Amino acid sequence: MSKSHPPAFPLSRPRRMRRTPALRALSREDRLSTDDLIWPVFVCDGCATTQEVPSMPGVIRRSVDLTVEAAAEAHALGIRAICLFPYTDPALKTDLCEEAWNPENLSNRAIRAIKAAVPDIAIMTDVALDPYNAQGHDGIVRGGEIVNDESVAALVKMALAQAEAGADILGPSDMMDGRIGAMRAALEEAGLIHTTIMSYAAKYASAFYGPFRDAVGASGALKGDKKTYQLDPLNADEALRAVGRDIAEGADMVMVKPGMPYLDICRRVKDAFAVPTYAYQVSGEYAMIRAAAGNGWIDGEKAMMESLMAFRRAGCDGVLTYFAPEAATLIRAGWD
Ligand code: PBG
Repeated sequence: MSKSHPPAFPLSRPRRMRRTPALRALSREDRLSTDDLIWPVFVCDGCATTQEVPSMPGVIRRSVDLTVEAAAEAHALGIRAICLFPYTDPALKTDLCEEAWNPENLSNRAIRAIKAAVPDIAIMTDVALDPYNAQGHDGIVRGGEIVNDESVAALVKMALAQAEAGADILGPSDMMDGRIGAMRAALEEAGLIHTTIMSYAAKYASAFYGPFRDAVGASGALKGDKKTYQLDPLNADEALRAVGRDIAEGADMVMVKPGMPYLDICRRVKDAFAVPTYAYQVSGEYAMIRAAAGNGWIDGEKAMMESLMAFRRAGCDGVLTYFAPEAATLIRAGWD
């Protein structure tokens, strides 16, 4: 008998196994754990300062001192990793993005402060030029073109500065060609042999990033779209090629982004490569759940937990989610 052909009714009555919480728990195929959660946080300048992000209700930017406190709270909740996104002063944005590899930039200061205070939480970074780019793109723009190789050289400098500051996981989100290999070679050369790379390998050109661009202050600078480097939403084979390439170039982990609209890609990546695979439940996905819940149209907690479970079912080892602290709190309380 094959898996897809259970015995006929009434020998098979699948509802027998759904009747009680105990039977449902015994036959549950997977679990969502706090180990699966990576929490993206937005960092701003100042001290004891928070700023709201209007398009992401419940999400705030925090100054470095408060980010350290938030990291300690996340760690206490069992969250394993925190991912830093800096809100950069517009005055520091240039066409060549030099602030990106300043060892004293906001992101690198936050890395050092968190490492010192909460050494056991893994610190992930964003490797892309958009927060520092007067043009708002993830790469350097010359004559209207996002130039690849010059951008990769800048991204390598940025990655090295983050690794030197103590980042555990570098997250190249830029989608330039050849950047994983270049970063891996530079890390080895610098003796930074333990720094891991989670490649945003299958990153789609998506409308769901809108609220994030507000959160990091990149919406105003960006002209045009990111279609010359991010993937076309209709392409799946291309995503697999991109993932395979990044693994071959030295990525330790791969990511699919956005999350929920691309669960098929998560499953195909996991099945094809069997490497640590993550999804990014992006800002627009978060905002949709929050907005519907805020209007009383869905149960926000249930929708949040169901959305996170979907990533496990699709084969993900973990998920980057703005819901991480709330989800961890519910998981610890024994969510069923
Ligand atoms: C940019 C970057 C983006 C996100 C993470 N890094 C936006 C983009 O590519 O425009 C999106 C995250 C989110 O929407 O939550 N390098």
